[in-house]
Parts: sequence; C-alpha cells; structure tokens
Amino acid sequence: MKDQELYQEMILDHYRNPRNCCSMENPTHCAEGDNPLCGDHLEVFVKVDGKIIQEINFQGSGCAVSQASASMMTENLKGKTIEEALKVFDKVHVMLTGYHPDEESEDKALGKLEALSGVAQFPMRIKCASLAWHTLKSALKEEEEPATTE
Ligand code: FES
Ligand code: FES
Repeated sequence: MKDQELYQEMILDHYRNPRNCCSMENPTHCAEGDNPLCGDHLEVFVKVDGKIIQEINFQGSGCAVSQASASMMTENLKGKTIEEALKVFDKVHVMLTGYHPDEESEDKALGKLEALSGVAQFPMRIKCASLAWHTLKSALKEEEEPATTE
C-alpha cells in the first residue's frame, strides 16, 4: 500500500511540476503522437549530439498519467545514448504490456491483458502511460524510416 501511495505521489508531482515541458529550437529529432482513445496529443523533441541525448523535451495535452509519464521519460533519458534509450523503451513496453515488442504486437498483448484482468480501464491507462514513449520512438526512428505513431 505504501508503494502505491509513493507511486501516486510521484505521478502527481510530475503532473503538477512537469520536467522538460517546453518546445525546443532546432531539435535533431522530433515527432508527434496521439492517443487514439481520447484524442490527446503530445510532441517530443530531442537534441542528439555525438549519439548522446543532450536535451529532451515534450509538450502537449493529456491526463495526469500521460503527462507524468512524459516528464519522467525526459528525466530518465537525458544523457543516454539512442541505443540505451531504445532499450529502456523495450523495458517500459514489457512493464506495461508484459510482452517484449519484438515478440508480440501491442494489440495482441492488450487483448490478452484485457481478457486476463477484466478491467476495462486498464488498457486505456496503458495507452496514456505509453504515449510519450511511442512518440519518442517515432522521433528516434525517423532517420531510418518515416515517422509513424499509434
Ligand atoms: Fe510498447 Fe505500446 S507499450 S508498443
Ligand atoms: Fe488522454 Fe490519458 S486520457 S492521454
């Protein structure tokens, strides 16, 4: 129970005082993402130099979970290489869905979760929590392929 309270406290803190929440001049990578379930919209800006994420910002609309998740993501990834950042993405994916992205599609993972949990709201929160991460992944992949977001 204590962990749960700490977790909620942390989300509220990041929601009320989001870190790195502003636009960026001349980002090396950027992308926009939408949560199709609610229409909320997020932009992520990254400045990479020497393969290291020197700056990472976000801006947009969304619920406490999506805003806090974006804020925490920027804090976590600043100073990491792109490769390290993509590894963190994979870990977040596993935490949120229980599956590695290479192994199973998100829809399939969500379908299973829904069936397992029987909690209709849970998949909705996964979309909220993963919005910034999907947007970031699109931004970092844009050099290799055209940016796409969910
Ligand atoms: Fe990983 Fe959606 S949470 S693909
Ligand atoms: Fe829209 Fe959470 S309700 S991002």
